[in-house]
Amino acid sequence: MHTIKTICVCGAGTMGSGIAQVTAMAGFTTIQFDLNSDMLQKSRTAMERNLLWMVDKGKITAEAGTQTLNRLVFTDQLTDCVADLVIEAIVEKTAAKTQLFNQLAAINSAGTIFATNTSSIAITTLAADVPHPERVAGMHFFNPAPVMKLVEVIRAQQTRPEVINTLTQLATQLGKTAVVCKDAPGFIVNRVARHYYLEAMKLVADGLATIETVDVVLEATGFKMGPFKLMDLIGMDINYGVSQIVWEALGKPERLTPSPLQQQKVAAGELGRKTGKGFYTYEKQ
Ligand SMILES: NC(=O)c1ccc[n+]([C@@H]2O[C@H](COP(=O)([O-])OP(=O)(O)OC[C@H]3O[C@@H](n4cnc5c(N)ncnc54)[C@H](O)[C@@H]3O)[C@@H](O)[C@H]2O)c1
Repeated sequence: MHTIKTICVCGAGTMGSGIAQVTAMAGFTTIQFDLNSDMLQKSRTAMERNLLWMVDKGKITAEAGTQTLNRLVFTDQLTDCVADLVIEAIVEKTAAKTQLFNQLAAINSAGTIFATNTSSIAITTLAADVPHPERVAGMHFFNPAPVMKLVEVIRAQQTRPEVINTLTQLATQLGKTAVVCKDAPGFIVNRVARHYYLEAMKLVADGLATIETVDVVLEATGFKMGPFKLMDLIGMDINYGVSQIVWEALGKPERLTPSPLQQQKVAAGELGRKTGKGFYTYEKQ
């Protein structure tokens, strides 16, 4: 079993920001790295706001809030990213992720675990291009990371069992429920969830229902969020990327064909909450 004291979360976007908040709250020294300093600033502001809200609601003490912030380092310098565990949450692109892991391999020891928060990229393929592939695994959090309990821990062909044990135990320390998954396209949740989004978009594209109606109906039947609101929360680029990767990995089955409706949104830069417009319009974050 590896001892984890310092965690580097790469990417300060929707997921990276939430994951870094979770690890810092659980007592780990947390380095949050992003190439974009605006994203780092946004992440810090969001965390301060979240922690203040928790203090106001009596969920944590003011001291715990301050200690959490003191455990965090925000940086745009790759050389600061030395840790016992890296959790990568950057763009959903294989080449970007392997390039980052290779850069991190050059400055970290062979014992540093490399976990990826990818929603759909095959961990075995990623690991194959990284030095010491036996330390690479998937650690898939859900959005919003501070709230959602599930973490899928994904074992690549190369992953050492101790790495899986360490990540499973860590997820428990973070207050999460870990489920070990096979390295299959979309793992478990994103494989099943494809249909939720794609069928909803088919209904709208075929003129059978409006976006609002689909969301209202599905929420009324018990889903926490309608598919269009959920796609806006996830980010259109991420969700469309996952659809493409899962579809291609499964041999392009017709039933999983990515929707042109979502492709158009990505092309228009209407990525959801993070850009202020997706299927719905939001106040800019
Ligand atoms: N959005 C979701 O609901 C969700 C849920 C689970 C998993 N994921 C996965 O998490 C990952 C991140 O998704 P997101 O929604 O947070 O994306 P995002 O677009 O909100 O943020 C990505 C961040 O990565 C940064 N970045 C890009 N390249 C970088 C690099 N080389 N080094 C450092 N930083 C870099 C960007 O500046 C940006 O801040 C993806 O792999 C995605 O599939 C997303």
